[in-house]
Amino acid sequence: MKLLLFPSLVALLFQGSANACTGFAGVHDHFLPINGTFAANNQISLNSDGYGVSHFGSGAYMITDGAYQTFVVVSTEGVVVVDAPPTTGHKIQWAIGNLTSIPVRWFIYSHSHSDHAGGAYIFANQSHPQVTTISHENTASQLATAKDPHRPVPQITFNDRYNLVAGNQTLELSFPGIGHDLGNIIIYAPKQRVLMMVDQIYAGWVPFWNLAASLYVPGWIQAHDQLLAYDFDVYLGGHMGGPANRTAVEVQREYVQDLFDNCADALLESGSPENPTVDIGTISKEVLENNPSNIWAQFAVYLDAVADLCYNKTSEKWLGKLAAQDIFGFSHARTMVSSLRLDYDILGPNGVQ
Ligand SMILES: *[C@@H]1O[C@H](CO)[C@@H](O)[C@H](O)[C@H]1NC(C)=O
Ligand SMILES: *[C@@H]1O[C@H](CO)[C@@H](O)[C@H](O)[C@H]1NC(C)=O
Ligand SMILES: *[C@@H]1O[C@H](CO)[C@@H](O)[C@H](O)[C@H]1NC(C)=O
Ligand SMILES: *[C@@H]1O[C@H](CO)[C@@H](O)[C@H](O)[C@H]1NC(C)=O
Ligand SMILES: *[C@@H]1O[C@H](CO)[C@@H](O)[C@H](O)[C@H]1NC(C)=O
Ligand SMILES: *[C@@H]1O[C@H](CO)[C@@H](O)[C@H](O)[C@H]1NC(C)=O
Ligand SMILES: [Zn+2]
Repeated sequence: MKLLLFPSLVALLFQGSANACTGFAGVHDHFLPINGTFAANNQISLNSDGYGVSHFGSGAYMITDGAYQTFVVVSTEGVVVVDAPPTTGHKIQWAIGNLTSIPVRWFIYSHSHSDHAGGAYIFANQSHPQVTTISHENTASQLATAKDPHRPVPQITFNDRYNLVAGNQTLELSFPGIGHDLGNIIIYAPKQRVLMMVDQIYAGWVPFWNLAASLYVPGWIQAHDQLLAYDFDVYLGGHMGGPANRTAVEVQREYVQDLFDNCADALLESGSPENPTVDIGTISKEVLENNPSNIWAQFAVYLDAVADLCYNKTSEKWLGKLAAQDIFGFSHARTMVSSLRLDYDILGPNGVQ
């Protein structure tokens, strides 16, 4: 493993630490295989044009390019499309065209991010005046700021809830609060018992980098329980192969709870010289000797040591159980340590003196 990010400082502390993924993932690194996990069995086979379709009954479908998911509901009055990842792009049109001759009439943004919405213009533009676009009001503000021709500003926005009645179909849209993004919504199809929230649950995998790159970690954590309050059979997270279910939400909730507890324990341990690998006094003294007066240096090394201890504790249970704990697990520990300190007032040795 190469430690390219803070070569002098981090290498100092993590010499010989095979699992501390503080550095770059290099092309020659060997990561754990995912073949023993649910992640490996949850792949959808793609056709020769590079997409796959799952049917959940009563006109509800998922279209995927293997990496991203689009939710489609066919109604008597028109097709509803949720998300248009640019990588799937025009394949979504082909897939729908092969399912029905009913035209697309509604486009819903799950949230603002371009990796899920960068193909929105394919459905929502001046050449398709019949398409109504819908999002949370925060998403609309973000898109107004972005001025991105690929992600037009939606026409209908809401704050708490919006029920879309499209012919014979209903979709219940609701806002659980700020989490992964400012305007992530929950999309629920009650007849088909399909629930979607994008970049929230990664079935069989640990979440994407830094707890799904969430803007507000406590909101993202809370969303696990908000999802489980629904009655559903199928869960769509926008990523990672095929459709998932309730178990995937429960498993990730358990992972995040363990990470939370382990990082809180690591912060508490870091105030005691009994464990010199994380003790703030021991670390500060050593780093400052090598880097006089550089308080950011000692703080960076200290925080990464706490995250590394949390990562180690979390890996004991989850390495090989959820795919890619070896790849993103350290980033999750680091993000959790930061959130515990700043959002939850768990400051370890830096609490009230
Ligand atoms: C985490 O585990 C690695 C590998 O066993 C070890 O080298 C490292 O010191 C541990 N980190 C901490 C902070 O205990
Ligand atoms: C996964 O793949 C690795 C390497 O190809 C192999 O050694 C291992 O036995 C496989 N494990 C399972 C559970 O299939
Ligand atoms: C609604 O109508 C569409 C188009 O005819 C059909 O595919 C779908 O199964 C119907 N869904 C329900 C819940 O009636
Ligand atoms: C059906 O899918 C193929 C590619 O898989 C595409 O070329 C064709 O245009 C689609 N048909 C319709 C009506 O969209
Ligand atoms: C409008 O949508 C069509 C596909 O439906 C796309 O080919 C075209 O580039 C879009 N036009 C603009 C101006 O975005
Ligand atoms: C969810 O899917 C997994 C993997 O296919 C399966 O083991 C589990 O029993 C399912 N859970 C429910 C509640 O259906
Ligand atoms: Zn996102």
